[in-house]
Amino acid sequence: MSELLVKTAQAMMAPGKGLIAMDESNPTCHKRFAKLGIPQTEEARRSYRELIVTTPNLGNWISGAILFDETIRQSSVGGVRFVDLLNKAGIIPGIKVDEGAKDLPAFPGEKVTEGLDGLRERLQDYFKLGARFAKWRAVIAIGDGLPTDGCLHVNAHALARYAALCQEAGIVPIVEPEVLMDGSHSLQECFAATQRALHALFDELVEQRVLLEGLILKPNMVLPGLDCPKQDGLDEVAEGTVTCLLRTVPAAVQGVAFLSGGQPSELAAARLNAMHVRCDGKLPWALTYSFSRALHQDAMDAWKGNPANIPAAQAALVKRARCCAAAREGKYRP
Ligand code: 13P
Repeated sequence: MSELLVKTAQAMMAPGKGLIAMDESNPTCHKRFAKLGIPQTEEARRSYRELIVTTPNLGNWISGAILFDETIRQSSVGGVRFVDLLNKAGIIPGIKVDEGAKDLPAFPGEKVTEGLDGLRERLQDYFKLGARFAKWRAVIAIGDGLPTDGCLHVNAHALARYAALCQEAGIVPIVEPEVLMDGSHSLQECFAATQRALHALFDELVEQRVLLEGLILKPNMVLPGLDCPKQDGLDEVAEGTVTCLLRTVPAAVQGVAFLSGGQPSELAAARLNAMHVRCDGKLPWALTYSFSRALHQDAMDAWKGNPANIPAAQAALVKRARCCAAAREGKYRP
């Protein structure tokens, strides 16, 4: 089993590639559709996901795609399962398995991610459907006295429980403790919160006997809050992010793949690029992308729900994928 996990994790972190997240829940997907006047229907969601999985040559820059429960069961208009289309394109299918972040009782302003009940059986089903990796996202807010140790601990515990169950099922877990960009906190405050979150997470992962070589970390970049008056430059972000990861993520971990968290697409790529320029190949793990918005928001904007726009949308996706792949090598030129 561990051989399969390591092999899958290595393939997910293949040189020059990264992951695409297309696992938006229906409400999140609808919010993005509504802004563009796209009908908020199952057929529109299916069409949009078909546009992504049929993008020519996407496998040149994308090693794995994170799907939503609905999406992993869907097919193209021609009747080919998305999972089969992805495999044919050399893209490993993955699945989001958490059931969302809910208010954490007695911890105002903080959340805990749910979805552990019945997870063992769901993972077995997803494996049969073709998923070879999974994702679970915890959200961590920065604020007055936040994050608390209590919030970090319960989320780390759930992430590790999920990761152990994934590995039992032959599925590589992506663990995603997302420190949110909302707020006026500084880059230094984000650094401190991210460092605490990652320490708590790896303590739990080791405690719960998770195989680090068969695991991918999906962290936030270390950034100032969206409302912080000081917006640090690329060098500060690269230094803060890489230093934080080097201090907290064991070298045995197979790879680190960032979420974009609502950063503009170009900036997300430029920041990843700056980390690679700074480190020049001297990192213990692969360092790549697992973006949703920073990879395919431009494509959604171009598509607008109109089939005539599919070629333009796919071209926009390819453009972003190429930029991210270049950034992963430190060769991105905006
Ligand atoms: P963003 O890149 O849009 O933050 O999405 C990544 C993701 O998978 C969130 O869980």
